[in-house]
Amino acid sequence: MTERGQVGAVADPIAGSPVYPGGSRVNERGHLEIAGCDLVDLAAELGTPAYIYAEDDMRARAHAYREAFERRTGDFEVLFASKAFPCTAAYRLFAEAGLSVDVASGGELHMALRAGFDPARIHMHGNNKSDEEILFAARAGVGHLILDSFDEIERCERLLDGPQEVLIRVTPGIKPSTHDYVQTGQLDSKFGFGLGDGLAARAIEWVLASETLNLVGLHAHIGSQIFALEPYMLAIRALGELAGEWCRAVNVGGGLGIAYTGEDEPPSIDAYVDFKVRGVAEVFGDGVRILVEPGRSLVGNAGVTAYRVGTVKEIPGVRTYVVVDGGMSDNLRPMLYGSRYEATIADRAGAAPDTLATIAGMHCESGDILVRDAMLAAPAVGDVLVTPATGAYGYAAASNYNGVRRPPVVFCRDGEARLVVRRETYEDLTARDVS
Ligand SMILES: Cc1ncc(COP(=O)(O)O)c(C=O)c1O
Repeated sequence: MTERGQVGAVADPIAGSPVYPGGSRVNERGHLEIAGCDLVDLAAELGTPAYIYAEDDMRARAHAYREAFERRTGDFEVLFASKAFPCTAAYRLFAEAGLSVDVASGGELHMALRAGFDPARIHMHGNNKSDEEILFAARAGVGHLILDSFDEIERCERLLDGPQEVLIRVTPGIKPSTHDYVQTGQLDSKFGFGLGDGLAARAIEWVLASETLNLVGLHAHIGSQIFALEPYMLAIRALGELAGEWCRAVNVGGGLGIAYTGEDEPPSIDAYVDFKVRGVAEVFGDGVRILVEPGRSLVGNAGVTAYRVGTVKEIPGVRTYVVVDGGMSDNLRPMLYGSRYEATIADRAGAAPDTLATIAGMHCESGDILVRDAMLAAPAVGDVLVTPATGAYGYAAASNYNGVRRPPVVFCRDGEARLVVRRETYEDLTARDVS
């Protein structure tokens, strides 16, 4: 480690890193560059914090999914799990890239329709869909309603009069190795119908006898940020146990993990698709459509967040806090899951990191820590600090905690930046207050 402030140059630590969007690099000024845009300049122009995406990186990942399927099967659908990044520009980008979309609420359905998705390519989730949401989805003409509970089956039968294609969500009794909060396939889950307890079989029997619901397949999503492929095979086999002649579609969920730090080595999109296609072919044979619904792996590494350092607090013999102008309101994951991130000072992106620091947010919570023990290059007040891999579930879960205005979203491409979501204003903060 060098003395703080004496920063040596290192080989470009950004180019080729799986954590940053493809094409990112340290430019001639020593600044971090994403999709041809200098992050120091962009932060000055837009203000901070800001979500910055490389839009071609998202297109490339959508293309990688489609292409991986096309080489292996003719009957597939790739759904953008829009909960990961629900903004109009993202819906549009993935609609144009030929993907379908998974929505989990009336709000996401509204955004997908507004962005121009063909309703037949919209598939609707939700473990507690309201009457209003069920009617909205059916009247809009969504492709599949994914049924999650007996109460929902009863609600749908009461509300709907036309035939609606549905899948049944099954919890196959599998615990992949990921954070407890993002496991969804175990028997003890609020989602779906259990396999082991016989509830899935009862739900199938009920819906097959329904006059309004047309059961066309099964669904299982076992969790998120998963690196091992084997648990998917267990889930596919579990679905196979329930399937009959009626089963024309198998939705095997999302879940592919991404690199949040250089130590993470997730499988490639190609390996993930290969595994799922082979698994479905082995268990279901031909004539069944395979659907997947990735979120994180389409957008996570395509986005970064840029902050401004406002305070550097050194506690002698304890630690150095580098405090930025955002935090848990724009990235809840560290607080929710204890997630690890990398960070870089965009002004000196090519310099050797020399300072061990904890990156803290500006919120009134001691737990508002974005990165514990990050190595940074001589962090100083006024620097632009960037955390990569924030493209999924950051914007989506952002809040106004402490009265902060939610950050803008910018799409970068070939050196051009376009604002796709503006920063909230102080007026926006009171726009819904009626007295
Ligand atoms: C039903 C369902 N499908 C798809 C996804 C997307 O998962 P991921 O972002 O891990 O690909 C989720 C996320 O939790 C989900 O609950």
